Amino acid sequence: MTDPIRTVYWDNDAVVFIDQRLLPGEETYVISRDYRQVAAAIKDLSIRGAPAIGVAAALGIALGVRHSQTASLTALQADFEIVCTTFSQTRPTARNLFWAIEGMQQHFREASAALRLRHDTDGQEALNSLKKSLITEAVRICGEDIAINRQIGAYGEALIADGDNILTHCNAGALATAGYGTALGVIRAAWEAGKGIHVYADETRPVLQGARLTAWELLREGIPVTLITDNMAGFLMKQGKVQKIVVGADRIAANGDTANKIGTYSVAVLARAHKIPFYIAAPLATFDGAMKTGRDIPIEERDPEEVTCYQGIILAPGGVNIYNPAFDVTPHRYITAFVTEQGLIYPPFGKTVASVLKTMKTS
Ligand code: MRU
Repeated sequence: MTDPIRTVYWDNDAVVFIDQRLLPGEETYVISRDYRQVAAAIKDLSIRGAPAIGVAAALGIALGVRHSQTASLTALQADFEIVCTTFSQTRPTARNLFWAIEGMQQHFREASAALRLRHDTDGQEALNSLKKSLITEAVRICGEDIAINRQIGAYGEALIADGDNILTHCNAGALATAGYGTALGVIRAAWEAGKGIHVYADETRPVLQGARLTAWELLREGIPVTLITDNMAGFLMKQGKVQKIVVGADRIAANGDTANKIGTYSVAVLARAHKIPFYIAAPLATFDGAMKTGRDIPIEERDPEEVTCYQGIILAPGGVNIYNPAFDVTPHRYITAFVTEQGLIYPPFGKTVASVLKTMKTS
């Protein structure tokens, strides 16, 4: 058995993460004691994938507070808010990022009240207890993410039949989470259950998360995988070579419209045309009740260089206009079901997603 991939974690007062920009060529782990370095790593895609971004932000916030030199609760809280703002400005689309920041803000309030800290509280001992509590909370969020993904895998595995060829887009694997993965969690769970499956991985231009990351993850565990370029997916479906499609998500609106890596929408439309079930595997932290429909979801636009250039190789003539949205929105009508840690959510999503969102508010 291969060792599980550890994407981002806390160790010895530092945040440790694998630099995903270097995969599959190099497996380099970065040890960071500066929260700004963790935020920069989210921005430059060293750490990417919605749940991994959320976990990295929680750990990064704990790191920022841990190294704050302030001597009163008021000053520590000011530092904490600066750190939270830094993370909130890294990437706009993944809901998990904001979910994690809001969770850490709530924990700050609750822990300072439980420790009976007042705004004029000073003395390192009292403040250290609060710092420790924030580290414990971030580490809990990190561990919980893996447990949630295993639960998603357990529910999703039931949808996969022995002999299925499953197509996936981008990387919703261990690398996109704290470990195990969401869409690849479903695939891993089916494989672990002894099902003879085979995966088609879309290469996922422009950043090639499918080619560099999904293919790497699956190969290292011996799960049969074939890499295709994005424009081949329709042809495979037409030939009857794909039985199921499972992808992840970056943000899910209240009506079920789902933002995921650019190209997901095309795959969903093709799936409908060929009557292939199209599943989204995602934790509840990706659902966003504040977004009524997909039109409300902010879509990140990234550097044109991602399209014109790859590792120093020029792919397009200088001066050409570039449009580089990192995500698209799949309308809910193309989605067969959501696979979450609380089970499957089927249409009508206007009702079913709303009732899940309600349970999240009260829990
Ligand atoms: O730009 P990225 O690599 O952070 O985008 C990630 C995705 O869109 C993935 O497809 C994924 O489904 C969301 S994370 C499980």
